[in-house]
Amino acid sequence: MKTYTNVFDLGDLKTALAEAAEIKKDRYKYEGLGRHKTCLLIFFNNSLRTRLSTQKAARNLGMDVIVLDVNQGAWKLETERGVVMDGDKSEHLLEAIPVMASYCDVIGVRSFARFESREDDYTEKILNQFIRYSGKPVFSMEAATGHPLQAFADLITIEEYKRTERPKVVLTWAPHPRALPQAVPNSFADFMNEADVDFVITHPHGYELDPKFVRGARVEYDQQKAFEGAEFIYAKNWACPGVTCPEDYGKVLSKDRSWTVDTEHMSWTDNAFFMHCLPVRRNMIVTDDVIEAPTSLVIPEAANREISATVVLKRLLQGN
Ligand code: CP
Repeated sequence: MKTYTNVFDLGDLKTALAEAAEIKKDRYKYEGLGRHKTCLLIFFNNSLRTRLSTQKAARNLGMDVIVLDVNQGAWKLETERGVVMDGDKSEHLLEAIPVMASYCDVIGVRSFARFESREDDYTEKILNQFIRYSGKPVFSMEAATGHPLQAFADLITIEEYKRTERPKVVLTWAPHPRALPQAVPNSFADFMNEADVDFVITHPHGYELDPKFVRGARVEYDQQKAFEGAEFIYAKNWACPGVTCPEDYGKVLSKDRSWTVDTEHMSWTDNAFFMHCLPVRRNMIVTDDVIEAPTSLVIPEAANREISATVVLKRLLQGN
């Protein structure tokens, strides 16, 4: 594997899941692989889980790790060509990328959607510059439109907890006070569409995800109908993806709390497990009692971030 930005980079998912299970049994099995190799993790945005789990994964493989917070302690970076740099940005990404790449063997990048231009976000302008100009294996630690390390951890968790061979998995929009990117729901849909599950997406009108990620999934606007018979409920907020209403891209169209996942919502399901990538706003996305119930998987799901990152880094080191 040369890059990791979406589900297709993993190839056969059954093989990837078997590798995850192998690493979970012995997470240090490949600790010789990263000897004298350095993993650079570059954060343009905040993180708790990704920052910690990816460092742990790199160390599982014997790598050294360098973490750079671009907005704290480094020079402010200009990302556009042709700009007269007479403002507060001291360095251009086109010099910074090869310099940073010269100190490492693998690069992880976190760079969220900016909601300034749908085209810039959906062409993954920042992440693709790292892929193009670093000359090193690059993996996404959540880019503008995808969070594949999270989605792989979600798939590992579903595989571990499923009660039926082909479970019904529902991705539901839920309200949030601020505009959040579509990276997590996009990647979750990307993975569920390739996994052996019955996948349904539910959200209010205006929140249609990009067809590139929805593909053949059933979209159900009635949340109760969507939840019926579900074995897994995956809640997430996202701002308007601008598919049916391009002028509203990145806007909050609704804060309707009737979409908040509570015990009544969960009673519509087949005793479903509750999932969320975290961080989560309690009593906006999900009520206290649902997230604290024995059927809540938010902690095992977060713990599996170490496993998904270990598999991805191992493959990047092996180049296969
Ligand atoms: N789920 C996730 O990526 O968490 P962080 O933003 O804290 O890394």
